[in-house]
Amino acid sequence: MWDLPNVPAIFYNGRKQVRRHSSDWRNVSSEIKIAELFAGVGGFRLGLDGYDDPEHPDFYMPSAGPFKTVWANQWEPGSDRRQFAARCYKAHFGENSVVNEDIHAVLDEYEAGTIDIPDVDMVVGGFPCQDYSVARTLSQASGIEGKKGVLWWDIYRFLRLKHLPGRKAPRYCLFENVDRLLKSPASQRGRDFAIILSCLASLGYAVEWRVINSAEYGFPQRRKRVYIFAEKTPESWNLEGRLANGVMAKAFPILPVESSFELQLFENPADNSDKFGVGMKTSPFRAAGVMQGCRVVTADVLEDFHGDRKTLGDVLVSESEVPEEYYVREEKLGDWKYLKGAKREPRKNKKTGYEYMYTEGAMSFPDALDKPSRTILTGEGGTTPSRFKHVIETPDGRLRRLVPDELDQLQCFPAGWTNTGMTDGQRAFCMGNALVTGIPHRIGRALVDFASE
Ligand SMILES: C[S@@+](CC[C@H](N)C(=O)[O-])C[C@H]1O[C@@H](n2cnc3c(N)ncnc32)[C@H](O)[C@@H]1O
Repeated sequence: MWDLPNVPAIFYNGRKQVRRHSSDWRNVSSEIKIAELFAGVGGFRLGLDGYDDPEHPDFYMPSAGPFKTVWANQWEPGSDRRQFAARCYKAHFGENSVVNEDIHAVLDEYEAGTIDIPDVDMVVGGFPCQDYSVARTLSQASGIEGKKGVLWWDIYRFLRLKHLPGRKAPRYCLFENVDRLLKSPASQRGRDFAIILSCLASLGYAVEWRVINSAEYGFPQRRKRVYIFAEKTPESWNLEGRLANGVMAKAFPILPVESSFELQLFENPADNSDKFGVGMKTSPFRAAGVMQGCRVVTADVLEDFHGDRKTLGDVLVSESEVPEEYYVREEKLGDWKYLKGAKREPRKNKKTGYEYMYTEGAMSFPDALDKPSRTILTGEGGTTPSRFKHVIETPDGRLRRLVPDELDQLQCFPAGWTNTGMTDGQRAFCMGNALVTGIPHRIGRALVDFASE
């Protein structure tokens, strides 16, 4: 087993970065070519390929193995002005590094043969939690049709197109989503995840998933996301063994699993759409799980991590670098305190006129510097007071919001990564959308390690 770094030494300001050598990939000699979907500002790419440009030593990040992203797609719905994430991606990886067009249109063109997408060994991407229900159609080969604009169906279509004769089926997939995906929708608990798993099973993939709270593995942000690793394999997996010792467990060690649950999915995603979770109050999918051939083993798991633990205080820049607009203005302090505080007050729904008692607890204000931060969201930027934006107390007792370089580092991007001509609000938006790059990094390292055994 390799030395998996406790926390990859990437992350704490360019100035403090330690250069590491991505030396020995042992038996894994061939390159793992990647297509990055919904690429944003390149979180998967940074975590897996790393970044090594002698002209930008401050942005150095170690690679997780012989990974090479050869194709990427990123398009923010809206006008050209909204394409700031794709511009950031191009600024770092080259003008032709990303196709900046709606994935749906890109796949139409690929299917029509008017563009090519290179064959890859691995497909990665973070996609939103949407309604994945399907309608049955006889016209579609798969027998199902998802709603337009629901991005899972573009991932599935990408994979299906890559399974056509003359193409190379990707061996691995790695996807990221909010942990709510395991439970949604409220009316049919777990249905959407069952649909996703059965889609992957229909193409011959076996799956490991884990809900990972990055702070539990030493990263400076509490961010809970589900990571779905899929492998196309002729081997029959021992599901319990894989749960305890698979790629995910290698990347994110867990205590011995005490009890697990087994279930069987419908093979046809449309059947899962119609019937899975009907009448169930809770989802059967737990924080960790394994699936092959629609048979699932799932369990609650506890982290077993003994490395360094980083905090919000570890990513702060020097106060001399903080522009004045980031400090909370005296006349706005009351608004901040009200929004962060506990409430119990009558409210009225503007549309229906319905009156109710609104309650919420107090948030820590200012945010603790000796703990990992709360999850950063896309609305973190801007001066308007808000309940969820972070506010810290400076050494001289002033209160301020986080600057973009600090948000970059909370996601384990190098400080300044999103400083590519965007506004500060756009930088915050990109980081709210992105992921903790150390998570795919550790999964990538564990995958290579696993493949070399
Ligand atoms: C959850 S974010 C993923 C961010 C990325 N992992 C990163 O590290 O920055 C989803 C991304 O999908 C992009 N997106 C949304 N709809 C899209 C579409 N129809 N085609 C291509 N990309 C889309 C969004 O602009 C957003 O950047």
